[in-house]
Amino acid sequence: MEGKTVVITGGNAGIGKATAIALAKKGAEIVFTSRNEKKATEALLEIKKASKSENVSYVLVDLSSQKSVRKAAEELKAKCPKIDVLINNAGCYISDLQLNEDGIEMQFGTNHIGHFLLTNLILDNIKAAKKARIINLSSIAHKSTRGINLDDINYEREEYGGWKSYSRSKFCNILFTKELARRVEKDGITVNAVHPGGVRTEIAEKDANWYTKLGWIISKPLMITVEKGAATSIHLASSAKVEGITGHYWVRSKQEWSNKPSQDSQTAEALWKKSEELVGEAFAF
Ligand SMILES: NC(=O)c1ccc[n+]([C@@H]2O[C@H](COP(=O)([O-])OP(=O)(O)OC[C@H]3O[C@@H](n4cnc5c(N)ncnc54)[C@H](OP(=O)(O)O)[C@@H]3O)[C@@H](O)[C@H]2O)c1
Repeated sequence: MEGKTVVITGGNAGIGKATAIALAKKGAEIVFTSRNEKKATEALLEIKKASKSENVSYVLVDLSSQKSVRKAAEELKAKCPKIDVLINNAGCYISDLQLNEDGIEMQFGTNHIGHFLLTNLILDNIKAAKKARIINLSSIAHKSTRGINLDDINYEREEYGGWKSYSRSKFCNILFTKELARRVEKDGITVNAVHPGGVRTEIAEKDANWYTKLGWIISKPLMITVEKGAATSIHLASSAKVEGITGHYWVRSKQEWSNKPSQDSQTAEALWKKSEELVGEAFAF
């Protein structure tokens, strides 16, 4: 991947960090994002050391804050005149209902809206690359969601559940993948979604309640390593075999079917419109 620039959100930990190391080893310039300066500097050293590459840097962003996303997008645009691969990898699992500073439910606000806004704001730089690729980390967890009530994003009428909301955010990652793929096809950009597997990371140990944390920790020995979990993202970012393939859901580096409701183009378009409303900006194509 010599000469290619790869932007990875949430590259300071877990699957994102393993992806960054692997793609840096392949010769790509890596720009990862982190919401925490200390974690970012530690990860920077680790990624450089493990990949034996100096071509690694970071940009700070809190994806739950639209103000922070807008600032980071400006930094990324200045730093990377062309972005060959964008991996929207960052994600959170939160047990209790929280609203972000923009008044949006936190998991939807971070996992979907944060990436929706970031991707659209840096899209011109992605278009500047030839045959660019966008990869969105979704999850098999999307399968518990059969539809989305766009009039009740903050669970004011329906009861909140940590898993329910996480699943909804991962369902939105697939709808976003499909709608964006349709919109940027004419620019030669491909967009795909990934389920990385059950991966031994700390995602459900940060903002989860005690029993979710316990369940996660107990299940960890059965999970795959971060290197294995990163394999599908790496495949989609670097393999010549996937060139031109767009709008799909991938598991173990193979195309699979996401659930039926996540394939609905009207729902995808409606989510796009709602997302534009929530970020206060429409994106022209
Ligand atoms: N692990 C699994 O089994 C699994 C399964 C299916 C899908 N996934 C998906 O894979 C992706 C990576 O997850 P992971 O398992 O590698 O988790 P992880 O180790 O917790 O890494 C998640 C990354 O996202 C960052 N992040 C979280 N909230 C953020 C925010 N508000 N702003 C900016 N960055 C934020 C984290 O930053 P901090 O380090 O500061 O928290 C971290 O860098 C996620 O999208 C997740 O939904 C994971």
